[in-house]
Order: sequence, then C-alpha cells, then structure tokens
Amino acid sequence: MEQERKIPAHVAIIMDGNGRWAKKRGLPRTMGHAQGAKVVEQILEDADHMGIKYLTVYAFSTENWSRPGSEVKALMNLLRTYMKTSLAKCAKNNVRIRVIGDKTRLDEDLQASIANLEENTKNNTGIGFQIAINYGARDEMRRAVQKIAAEVKEGKMDARDITEQTISDHLDTAGIPDPDLLIRTCGEERLSNFLMWQLSYSELYFTDKAWPDFDKAELEKAVDAYNHRERRFGGLVS
Ligand code: FPP
Repeated sequence: MEQERKIPAHVAIIMDGNGRWAKKRGLPRTMGHAQGAKVVEQILEDADHMGIKYLTVYAFSTENWSRPGSEVKALMNLLRTYMKTSLAKCAKNNVRIRVIGDKTRLDEDLQASIANLEENTKNNTGIGFQIAINYGARDEMRRAVQKIAAEVKEGKMDARDITEQTISDHLDTAGIPDPDLLIRTCGEERLSNFLMWQLSYSELYFTDKAWPDFDKAELEKAVDAYNHRERRFGGLVS
C-alpha cells in the first residue's frame, strides 16, 4: 500500500531571485519584488490548502538595508501595502500574522500597521504566517540573550536554569514549532542568516526556480522531496 504523504507542519522560505527574474525580462528589480509579493500571497493560500500549519518567509534581512535606497523604499512600500490591505483576507482565511525581526528600526507608520494586523489576527486559528522583516538570526539571538540576561539580573531566573528551551522561548518565533522544511529558490544554497537556531534539524530544499515563478506545483515538489528524506534528529538509520 502506498504510504500516506507527510505534510510538513512548518515550511520556511528564502524567496530569492526577484531581481534576476526582472532583469531577464528587461524590467526594473522592483517589478520582480512586486511579482514576488503576489506569489507570497498565493503560496500562503496553497500552503494552507495543503495542510501546512505555519509558513515563514524572509522578506527583508538586516543586511538588505545596504541595497540602493530606492529598492529599500520599494520593498518597504510593498510590505506597507500588505500590512494595510490584508486584514479582510486574513479574517476570511483565518490567518494569524506575526512579524519576526527587529521592528524598532522600521518607519513608525509601518510598525503601527504591523501591530494592528498582528493584534487583529492573533485569535485566528488557521495557518500561522510569519513575515521576517529587518530580520537576522544573529541579531535575533543577540536580542534573546539580552532579554534572558535582563531576567537573570532582575532575579526572575537563575543562570544555571537556562536550557535550550529557554533560548527558543526568547526568540521572535517563541511558541512556534521549528521548521520541518526550508525552501530556497533561484539556485543559491546558503542560509543567509535566516532562522539559524530554528533550522538545526530542518530538511533543506533548493530549487533553480526564481521566486516570482514559484507556484503550487513547485511547493508540491518540495513537499515530495521532503517525503523522501528520512529525518533522524541525530539518531540511527532505522
Ligand atoms: C530576494 O531577491 C528577495 C528579497 C530580498 C525580497 C523578498 C520580498 C518580497 C518577495 C516581498 C515580500 C512581500 C510580502 C507581502 C511578504 P533578490 O532581490 O535578492 O533577487 P536577486 O538575487 O535575483 O537579485
């Protein structure tokens, strides 16, 4: 009998290749990002229909500030539009939004729309959608260490009681299970400072498709590949 297909509970995606996709078509890079943003929304729906419980996407890294000002602005405007216009759709599809990353460096209006969307979707019970903005794994760990150190200093915790779980609980992804599967598009095979603590035991899947060309069939392929991996978490081959 054919074995039932396992659906990863949490899929994380490094959406690479927007710029190359646009260049190939003689378009400005920002058009690649705009198309990429449409694809994110479609993939969120597809992931939900497939039974994926959490989807986390890398929208803007702590390193992306070094891109030309016009490109940073275009990316921020796409995120701004998403935060302002998604509430009805999230309500309809029961989506819960969480932005991970250091939000304090974002424009105040964007911080306010993020807070609003997070607050208004927090009781939704469907797919959890995490958007990484001004996110870097090292920065996330640095902030977690700061929070833990403050709690130790205030006498709320003894340093000897710090466990791996304590660290997980102080990351931006607290309460969300670690990703089972990481997908990176457009031929690059690096983690690029994304979820480095959380991806310790995740399966990694790389595809040559540029993010704006990614679709449900590609997501299915990644899930199929995941099904052919044997996850051992450091144990023995069964
Ligand atoms: C990488 O492609 C992509 C990004 C740095 C930005 C990804 C952001 C989006 C798709 C928009 C997110 C929107 C929502 C709604 C969450 P690249 O520019 O590095 O491409 P290249 O390597 O081909 O130059």
